[in-house]
Amino acid sequence: MEQALYHPQHGYYSSSIGKKIGRDGDFFTSVSVGDTFGVLLCHAIEQKWQNLCPENDLPLVIVEQGAHDAQLARDILEGFRSRNSPLYEKIEYRIIEPRETIRREITEIADCTGYSPKLYPVQSMADARAEAGIFLCNELLDAFPVRRFVHEKGRWLEQWVAFEDKFIFTNEEIPSDDEDFQRFLNLLGETTEFEDGYETEFCPNVKNWITDCSQLFEKAGSWLIIDYGFEAEDYFAKSRKTGTLQCYHQHRTHDDPLFRPGECDITAHVNFTDLTREAERAGLEAVTLTDQSKFLIEAGRDWLLSFEGQAPGPAEAAKLRQFQTLTHPSMMGRSFRVAEFRKG
Ligand SMILES: C[S@@+](CC[C@H](N)C(=O)[O-])C[C@H]1O[C@@H](n2cnc3c(N)ncnc32)[C@H](O)[C@@H]1O
Repeated sequence: MEQALYHPQHGYYSSSIGKKIGRDGDFFTSVSVGDTFGVLLCHAIEQKWQNLCPENDLPLVIVEQGAHDAQLARDILEGFRSRNSPLYEKIEYRIIEPRETIRREITEIADCTGYSPKLYPVQSMADARAEAGIFLCNELLDAFPVRRFVHEKGRWLEQWVAFEDKFIFTNEEIPSDDEDFQRFLNLLGETTEFEDGYETEFCPNVKNWITDCSQLFEKAGSWLIIDYGFEAEDYFAKSRKTGTLQCYHQHRTHDDPLFRPGECDITAHVNFTDLTREAERAGLEAVTLTDQSKFLIEAGRDWLLSFEGQAPGPAEAAKLRQFQTLTHPSMMGRSFRVAEFRKG
């Protein structure tokens, strides 16, 4: 999965930003629905910053990772600017982007859209550090490579990819001292009985990632991690026999990760129990794990009230339609979750 997504030459995400997301791409995200997601996050950030920095005597550092073409960054910044928020002047928006070509593209986008020098890419977490700030990511963790475990005859095997004239899957024994596997077993808890052929995923990178990420803000910070996923009990439900791995190509979903490697997005749902445990282990306080619907409605209270008592014109109606897509339980409202962590 790591090679298919991030191989420097052939990986799905490795070359240029390209047209992967939105109508002309392979899949939609809350960001590609329209600018309402960013506007509502701008309200949430404002509220959180008031709590984190009541004296308002520090720059408001917003750090985003997995920002693709920086569209969310631009929507958030525009949200502050269009409301003449005094915080706008204080914002430094840093995008963590390890790939040099994509950093160059983001710099160009920031220049062309007039957000330089406020909006800029940095190479690593360490380069994004600040005294206080807000971290956010949307659909980053579902793009992290996962390991796939298969239950057979009372034990777990790991699914690997082999080559025999073509790519095939092969199930192998897991060494008993494999630390990731022990973490996976801990997440299963009391659930030990799975039928033969039951498949599931585990994302080893979450631990190191959140440990690194927890060190972004030295004194005070808020971390907003938005993605689709489940808590462990639901993740390992007996009925979820084929796991959560999914592939996307030109708005079609399929479940064969070996089909056109490097041309399809491959994702797996986030295990929020694992994320929360590792975040707490890294010293962060878990504040909420809620539906995107509840989170955005709470964040957008004032925004929603601003529509009251007037018939919406075409622009307002379009924004309300976006809001509905983002929050309706049968659309993005329930499947997407928001995990919030805090420090200071
Ligand atoms: C599913 S896309 C989501 C893009 C965007 N956040 C949105 O919601 O439209 C996942 C993004 O995460 C990026 N990504 C994956 N691993 C990353 C990492 N370690 N550092 C920075 N970006 C990463 C990918 O390149 C891709 O742009």
